[in-house]
Amino acid sequence: MQTLAQNLTSQAVDASLSQLILTLADTSKAISQAVRHGALAGVLGATEQENVQGETQKKLDIITNEMLKDALKADGTVRGLASEEEDHVVEVSETGQYLVCFDPLDGSSNIDINSLVGTIFSVLPAPTGELSEASFLQQGRAQLAAGYVLYGPSTMLALTTGRGVQMFTLNPETNEYLLTQDAVSISKDTAEFAINMSNQRFWEAPMQTYIADLLLGKIGPREKSFNMRWIAAMVGDVHRVLSRGGLFTYPADNKDPNKPFKLRLMYEANPMALLVEQAGGKASTGYENILDIQPEQIHQRVAVILGSANEVDACLSYHGLDYSQEPDPELG
Ligand code: F6P
Ligand code: MN
Repeated sequence: MQTLAQNLTSQAVDASLSQLILTLADTSKAISQAVRHGALAGVLGATEQENVQGETQKKLDIITNEMLKDALKADGTVRGLASEEEDHVVEVSETGQYLVCFDPLDGSSNIDINSLVGTIFSVLPAPTGELSEASFLQQGRAQLAAGYVLYGPSTMLALTTGRGVQMFTLNPETNEYLLTQDAVSISKDTAEFAINMSNQRFWEAPMQTYIADLLLGKIGPREKSFNMRWIAAMVGDVHRVLSRGGLFTYPADNKDPNKPFKLRLMYEANPMALLVEQAGGKASTGYENILDIQPEQIHQRVAVILGSANEVDACLSYHGLDYSQEPDPELG
């Protein structure tokens, strides 16, 4: 089995990008250890602090953010970084060629229940000139690499450098990532979807109708039964989609009018959208391809619909319909 380093060489990935990816992978090994030790290391639980998005930070959010920041500062290839746990972008080195956006520990509400969590990252080219937030505001298509590490029963790295998607599994004996799946491909069709159903009454009409039709199963317009899965960590749900197909969505909702979307564009939606597209799937907001969005802020949020191409298309077809009329009283 190829190691990650061997695989990057065989793909002819640029030497400095390979170095950065290896730094991210090495840091994820240390994060995996911290996550695995859990309560034994005293790393579980919340802190008194909130991040810029008003979410209470878990101890592990802060620990993993520091681990990644320290590693990226020492790497030498990084010009600047943006993290879910940093209010502002951080300048790293004047000579670095890359910008790195990351969610150090996605799904942190899963930490305390010993369930799936992960690290998501996105690598962009660093523009010349002074570094500012504007330097990061590049479309998802500009990503040079994207991936995640899933801290599950085994620790796995999913990676794209624009040459398809590869999955690596961390060998606990040698502490090395080994290639366990090349050319990951998402099935075009699926009968599985993932959504937080508790928000149902807050969704927009197209999503209400689409999910209602999935739930009708064989007796509905889709004429087939669908199963539902929800891990509550995007990294886990997207991993399932890459592994066996499916549709994952965190749609717009009006639960809090000041926060219509949940997932962050720069370090959640964009890297996952690139992985999904590179594996033959699709990723959209319902109205626009995620990778085509022109970002306006580093912490901006977007609606996400991604996964098996035909199922994403089915969901998008509802968004093209006219929902302006009153609901049909016979449909309740
Ligand atoms: O990072 C945000 C996140 O933790 C995602 O990983 C996950 O999909 C979502 O929030 C779950 O949020 P909720 O439990 O509010 O639906
Ligand atoms: Mn997250």
